Amino acid sequence: MKIESIKNRDLKMLVQIHVENFENFFLTNLGFDFLLIYYEALLSMKESIALGLYYKSKLVGFSIGVTISSGINKKILKSNFKKFLLVGVKIIICNPKIIFRLLRGFNKKELIKNDFTGELLSISIDKKHRNNGYGKTLLSAFEKEMKAKGMKYLSLTTDFSNNKSVNQFYSSNGYLIQSTFQLSRDRIMNRYIKEI
Ligand SMILES: CC(C)(COP(=O)(O)OP(=O)(O)OC[C@H]1O[C@@H](n2cnc3c(N)ncnc32)[C@H](O)[C@@H]1OP(=O)(O)O)[C@@H](O)C(=O)NCCC(=O)NCCS
Repeated sequence: MKIESIKNRDLKMLVQIHVENFENFFLTNLGFDFLLIYYEALLSMKESIALGLYYKSKLVGFSIGVTISSGINKKILKSNFKKFLLVGVKIIICNPKIIFRLLRGFNKKELIKNDFTGELLSISIDKKHRNNGYGKTLLSAFEKEMKAKGMKYLSLTTDFSNNKSVNQFYSSNGYLIQSTFQLSRDRIMNRYIKEI
């Protein structure tokens, strides 16, 4: 296994892992094409860190985050507005009600005020390779990259309910619950933070 920066040519593999591992998440429900544009935009930003876990040159896990999370969704949208517009129109035609959630997502209130706090947006290990310590290794490599970019803390959010093993994963890797908050009517989240 090797950990290195994710290349654009691996984006489809990354999106495939996302789709398989984040079933029923809002972003996943927006579809493969949307995720492809989303991750392409994220990877191109100077604020992002994207590490891949490779097994025989195949991507089997990834961790992605940003050094400055404030207004990040708007920046992602602006960075590739035309492509987002095209795919967004298709999504809205198929499901008009989704527009309210899209707008909420892009206007999300800033939760982090500290300039030295990086945000882990997603981490995922292919199901076949879990529980071998790869998640821990990838998270630790990600923390090192964040630290090298001047960050002192790393923060993330994950579901509070029906998510015992992921919450356990972060606790055992030194993350402390900073707050628990209601994201939407049926979703409660834990915000974790760690000094890195
Ligand atoms: C969360 C996730 C990234 C963890 O990846 P992972 O590779 O399974 O993580 P690890 O193997 O490092 O640790 C998981 C467990 O494996 C076991 N483990 C760790 N190292 C091990 C080893 N060398 N041998 C055997 N078992 C080991 C431990 O029991 C560990 O549990 P602990 O965290 O309570 O100590 C993975 O479960 C995943 O992709 N989940 C779906 C996506 C997701 O929900 N991501 C988080 C969104 S916020």
